This record gives sequence, C-alpha cells and structure tokens, in this order.
Amino acid sequence: MILVTGGAGFIGSNFVLDWLARCDEPVLNLDKLTYAGNLGNLAALADDPRHVFVKGDIGDTGLVAGLLAQHRPRAIVHFAAESHVDRSIHGPADFITTNVDGTFSLLEAARAYWQELDGEFMTAFRFLHVSTDEVYGSLGPDDAPFTEATPYAPNSPYAASKASSDHLVRAWHRTYGLPTLTTHCSNNYGPYQFPEKLIPLVIANARQGKPLPIYGDGGQRRDWLYVADHCAALRRVLAAGRPGETYDIGGGEELPNLALVHTLCAILDARLPKAAGGYAEQIVHVADRPGHDRRYAIDAAKIERELGWTPQESFDSGIRKTVDWYLANAAWVSAVQSGDYLRWVDTNYAARAMHSESV
Ligand code: NAD
Ligand code: TYD
Repeated sequence: MILVTGGAGFIGSNFVLDWLARCDEPVLNLDKLTYAGNLGNLAALADDPRHVFVKGDIGDTGLVAGLLAQHRPRAIVHFAAESHVDRSIHGPADFITTNVDGTFSLLEAARAYWQELDGEFMTAFRFLHVSTDEVYGSLGPDDAPFTEATPYAPNSPYAASKASSDHLVRAWHRTYGLPTLTTHCSNNYGPYQFPEKLIPLVIANARQGKPLPIYGDGGQRRDWLYVADHCAALRRVLAAGRPGETYDIGGGEELPNLALVHTLCAILDARLPKAAGGYAEQIVHVADRPGHDRRYAIDAAKIERELGWTPQESFDSGIRKTVDWYLANAAWVSAVQSGDYLRWVDTNYAARAMHSESV
C-alpha cells in the first residue's frame, strides 16, 4: 500500500480518488482534518476497504511510526500542508509547525522505517514530497519560465515554509540516502478546491451575488494546471522518477488574474444567466496582497522528456469542467462555507477597501 498525507484536502483527495479508480493498491490516508480537510471529498470511498483513513497529525511521531510499522507502505506521498498564501500572511506559525516541523517529523519517521526494510523493499521505497513553484519567487515579464535549476527565492511565509521543507527533503536524501522525489507544481484548479482560493472563491461569490475581489490591478500571472493532470504527473514521478531528483510540473497556460476572472464570468453568464446584467459587474479591485508575486510560469520539459508526462486538459476545457462541477455541487460549497470559513472571509477582506472595476 501507499501512505498519503493530507489526502482529505483538495489535491490529496483528487489523488486518492484517481489512484483507486486506476488500481487496487490500498491507500492509507493520514490527515489532521484542519479547516481545509474534508472527508466529504472522499464520500465515494466510504465503504471501500482499499481506503484506510486515519485522522492525525504528521507531526505526531508515535502515531506515524505506529502506522508505518503496522501497514508497511512501499511509498509515502506527502501532500499535508498549510497551503494558503493569505492565511500565511495573517498567521505564519501554523505554516512553520506543519510544513517545516511536520515534514521534519515525517522524514525522521520515514528514515527510521526505511532503514529497517529488507533489500528489495528498501531499494524500491519512495518518499514523494509535493511542493510548489512558489519556492522560486516571482518572474519578471520577460523572464524564461522556472526550471529545476532556478534558484530558490520564496517571498511569502507559505513559500518560505515549503522551501524549507524542500531543503530538508534534499538533505535527507543526500545525507541518509532516503529515496526522495520532489515536485514543484504550478497553480492547480478543479473539483474540491476550498473556496478561499481564487477560482472557487469567484465561482461561489458570483453565484451568491457577492463582490469578486481582485487584488491590486489583477495583472499578476499564474500558470494554471487542471488537478487531474497534476495527479497523473505525480503517479509518473512515483513510478519512474529518479531518487534525489526534482521535477517541475505546469500547464503552460499563463493568464493574468483579471482575464481569468472575466473568463469565469463569461462561462457563468452562459451557464447560469443573471436576470439582468453580467457577472463581471460584480468585479471589485481591493488592496493588494503584501509581497504579491507578479508572475509564475513553469518549464515542464524535464518531466515531459524523462517521464513522458504532458497535460491532457487545456485551460479552456478544464475551466469549463470546473465551473460545471461547482454549479452541480453547490451543497459541497455551502457545507464548507461555515464557521472557520466565515471568520476567514472577515479577516482577509474586511480591511480591504473595494473599488468597482471601471470598464
Ligand atoms: P489543502 O489546503 O487543500 O489540503 C491540505 C490537507 O492537509 C488538508 O486535508 C489538511 O487537513 C491536511 N493537513 C494540514 N496540516 C496537517 C497536519 N499537520 N497533519 C496531517 N494533515 C494535515 O492543500 P492542497 O491545495 O490540496 O495542496 C496539497 C499540497 O500540494 C500542499 O503541500 C501544497 O503545498 C502543494 N501544492 C498545491 C498547489 C495548489 O495549487 N493548490 C500547487 C502546488 C503544490
Ligand atoms: P490563490 O488562489 O490564493 O493562489 P496563489 O496565491 O497560491 O497563487 O491566488 C491566485 C491569484 O489570485 C494570486 O495572484 C492572488 C489572486 N487573488 C485575488 O486577486 N483575489 C482573491 O480574493 C484571491 C483569494 C486571490
């Protein structure tokens, strides 16, 4: 079996669902169920004996050691993290605790387990660390996209915590020989993404007649990848990636935020027309994010060349599927828009003055 951490979050739950749709190798899913973790994402697996869910913290050394000893996974796929940049600005401590200290604990538990494995099983073991392109910092308008050789220059507490965890993973390979793999992926979108992130936030707010908040001028660019393509890339890296290597994963479809939000509004106008006017009228400009990275873009040539991975979904098709999923799953959205979510919206947006877009 494989051990997945953070498998009740956005990408982790997509990965677990896709994995079990493709093969019968069981998944041990360790997730703390923070505000971002949602067992509802895994409802389809409720009676599936191939999925074993454990609510717990990656930083709980005793728990993780016990799970490894009991279930003897052949690999760990490590998604668990605090993942939202704006939250890292308001409260960085949890990002250090989970992303840095938690990854350290997990690496130590994995090392102790791996060192006791027998020959073939020891050679085949993998620790796949799921990281982000944000560790590379921000590109200028004419810079070449990030590659695996781009120097680290993290700008947010989130990016710095992920960069720290990447360095630990690298050191555990170089020093102890742990067979690690690290991936740096661009912005994901798709089903089950928590509506604090731009795309699900805009879809939810549009439907609910609320403002669609654009930070600053909306000229920041992101390289968007449909989540199923990220999951496929991770399966390839796990199967055939070379231990100690890093792989950059991206969709190669860069878009400024404002253009992306206008695209979402146009799709919504066609799918769910308003009685009068269009969704773009709800766009407002709000105060920018401090330290906001202007541009991310990934050169995915290495994973394409070495592992034969390319994205299957274009942005045009992926974003339409995504809008349709959120429209069909309004109950999922309203279930997560309670308690902590409402407090977060107040914390993040109350202090940002809103200015309607002048068209
Ligand atoms: P998410 O916030 O949706 O999910 C994170 C999951 O981790 C949640 O289920 C949460 O309960 C769990 N978790 C948090 N702290 C934990 C702890 N201490 N112990 C156990 N479980 C814990 O995040 P996501 O968007 O699915 O991202 C998953 C991973 O992929 C992260 O490591 C992130 O850095 C990376 N990543 C995300 C993106 C993106 O666009 N979302 C892009 C590249 C890389
Ligand atoms: P986000 O989904 O938080 O991902 P990341 O910060 O990891 O790239 O944000 C994507 C982009 O959208 C980013 O440039 C910030 C911007 N943004 C807004 O303009 N308004 C919002 O309300 C949010 C949440 C994000």
